[in-house]
Amino acid sequence: MTTDLRGRTFFIRTFGCQMNENDSEKIAGILAAAGAFPAGREEDADILIVNTCAVRAKSVEKMASYIGRLGRLKAGRKVRIGVTGCVAQVEGKALTVGRKGIDFVVGPDGYLRLPRILAGAFSGPVVDTAQSPDWQEAPPLLLARSSPASAFVTIMEGCDNFCAYCIVPLARGREKSRPLPSIRAEVDDLGRRGYREIQFLGQNVNSYRDPASGTGFASLLEETARRPGPEWIRFVTSHPRNFGPEIIEAMAASPRICRQLHLPLQSGSSGVLDRMNRGYTRAEYLDLAARLRKRLPGIALSTDIIVGFPGETEAEFQDTLTALEEIRFAAIFSFRYSPRPGTASSRIPDDVPLEAKRRRLIEVQALQKRLQTDFHRGLVGRVLRVLATGPGKKDASAFSGRTEGGQVVNFRAAADVTGRFLDIEITGAGPYSLRGRIAGAADPI
Ligand code: SAH
Ligand code: SF4
Ligand code: F3S
Repeated sequence: MTTDLRGRTFFIRTFGCQMNENDSEKIAGILAAAGAFPAGREEDADILIVNTCAVRAKSVEKMASYIGRLGRLKAGRKVRIGVTGCVAQVEGKALTVGRKGIDFVVGPDGYLRLPRILAGAFSGPVVDTAQSPDWQEAPPLLLARSSPASAFVTIMEGCDNFCAYCIVPLARGREKSRPLPSIRAEVDDLGRRGYREIQFLGQNVNSYRDPASGTGFASLLEETARRPGPEWIRFVTSHPRNFGPEIIEAMAASPRICRQLHLPLQSGSSGVLDRMNRGYTRAEYLDLAARLRKRLPGIALSTDIIVGFPGETEAEFQDTLTALEEIRFAAIFSFRYSPRPGTASSRIPDDVPLEAKRRRLIEVQALQKRLQTDFHRGLVGRVLRVLATGPGKKDASAFSGRTEGGQVVNFRAAADVTGRFLDIEITGAGPYSLRGRIAGAADPI
């Protein structure tokens, strides 16, 4: 059967997390290897792919309205529209029912089969949601990396934690780790191509285990930091439950591993955490945060918070606010609980009134805004190492970058400094970003 896509053009729209972004880069690479070309706009593509996120009802609504728009765009043109990603996996064939225009639905384990699907004849929607227990290695050709400075490297996929609210274990299946040699090969290649930062990705990076040797995440970090390659190493997402001391030691052993950690707390109440099936208490999380800060001074911690989980009382919600005050995260992502089909908590009443959820979210975000502003103001006057990630929005001399802690810094430069490490003096601070001026460069401009 032919898998030749020469002469075809594709456009991919991505919703969801960094893993989905990395998957879109892989899909682009897979289609390009089959001969297709990327198009800059939907209107110019004959293969339109929506890479979807199922994590909250809102992400699914956004996807649905986008698909509606694509359907209208299709009128009168010979275009194939496909849905990939997490909604494709959990909804499968149901996605095509009552919705016209979707030609293919392919889950995360089916991307290597896309050329064959697309080169074939369509007598009706093609649905491929077969899940594989083993790692699916995409060809090394990765087209459009989303940044010329920083690259995602997926090291594991799936989740065995089954937090009560979360659809990810259904969408991404059981945990599977990528063979160590192919991680090494990708990192070495990124180093040769001049990337300055890598971000290891996984739903639970700390559960990583090389299928052949059993090498765990701490050893992966240590050996990556010992090899030549991109200078900065980050990873996301870590689960507090199995974030062992060996990972903290691996971080402490190398200055190349950024002093930054995204460690989802979800709630500051031990009662809510228990009902969420998170596997740690408030006290255990606080203890972990304290150990991290002691061993890795200056580490920037960030987190995810859910408000309005079923049964969350006002007192339990206050526990989340006090935890935020106590831990002082550098950044948070906060969400209103939304019941997801097939999850444990979707079977218990979603009993926190919408008004209360809304108010709690506003309170969390207002508190964090104040804490973040304080934190950022404390950085004014300091000179921080920044990786320039690309042009800013304002004008040709505006650039944007990130500190080791992950703070966004906006600054001006006379030449394109994308992909360079700069020493930036922080001159101003808002709640969500910093301003600065170049004080020096780690490498020649
Ligand atoms: N593997 C990562 C990412 C999970 S999804 C992790 O374990 O942290 C990202 C965030 O979405 C979660 O951390 C959680 O805060 C939020 N989330 C997940 N399911 C949700 C739901 N049903 N309602 C509201 N927020 C949810
Ligand atoms: Fe979802 Fe929990 Fe797994 Fe994270 S650890 S992906 S929140 S089930
Ligand atoms: Fe969304 Fe799937 Fe990522 S549900 S958050 S795109 S793993």
